Amino acid sequence: RKKVTVQTLQNLYKNGEPITMLTAHDFPSGHVADVAGMEVVLVGDSLAMVALGMEDTSEVVMEEMLLHCRSVARAAKTSFTIADLPMGSYEVSPEQALQSAIRIIKEGRMQGVKLEGGEEMAPTIKRITQAGIPVVGHVGLTPQRQNALGGFRVQGKTTAGALKLLRDALAVQEAGAFMMVLEAVPAEIATLVTKKLRVPTIGIGAGNGCSGQVLVQIDMAGNFPPGRFLPKFVKKYADVWGETIKGIQQYRDEVKTRAYPSPEYTYPIAKAELAEFEK
Ligand code: KIV
Ligand code: NA
Repeated sequence: RKKVTVQTLQNLYKNGEPITMLTAHDFPSGHVADVAGMEVVLVGDSLAMVALGMEDTSEVVMEEMLLHCRSVARAAKTSFTIADLPMGSYEVSPEQALQSAIRIIKEGRMQGVKLEGGEEMAPTIKRITQAGIPVVGHVGLTPQRQNALGGFRVQGKTTAGALKLLRDALAVQEAGAFMMVLEAVPAEIATLVTKKLRVPTIGIGAGNGCSGQVLVQIDMAGNFPPGRFLPKFVKKYADVWGETIKGIQQYRDEVKTRAYPSPEYTYPIAKAELAEFEK
């Protein structure tokens, strides 16, 4: 397969073929997403929680994002790579945002950036795209603003909310974003918004009428302990945690009983050499 570009994604959109996007936060998670055929790999700021054990995404800083971006970039031979601008790195001014976006490209080795927000971010999106950096928008539920939104709530559930979502999506498109994430929006609203745009929408908790889908890798791969809260839209496609626990527990048992390492996992020595040594 050839490296995915903005043009590849635009062709998928034109042909009505859903775009596949998945998060990754390091070399192995980027590698597996790439090999499995994801068109876009996103170094989301969700890595604050899934890779760094932080409470929420507001804690992760640019330097930390850059380290993870570089690791994923080395793995993504085919997938188009984008990264979130972390909270605090783009809200102050379009200049600050452009400087941060340049760091994601130059130091993080990504191909594009994603940033949260609607109408109010239009000048910022414009500034970054005019510098030749592809921008992915993110409207609907914007987790970096959870304190202002009053938590993780579905957006666009009222007529007024849906109209605001449409205004935001149109403004993000007009500002030059080539694609946008729609998060936690009723399916019918996401479908209607998608139809009114001429750039692809990538849904997460937004139904199947979007131009593509994105999920957080550790969620869809089931790489988390039993009992953890999962949003309604997450489908668990595998049980990586369960498989890993099984393997580690068996390893522990076999070390304790000296079943591991058995001869097949051990380096041999010629009998004569050994006899000489034992003298
Ligand atoms: O940070 C993230 O992983 C995201 C996706 C869930 C869209 O923004
Ligand atoms: Na994010």
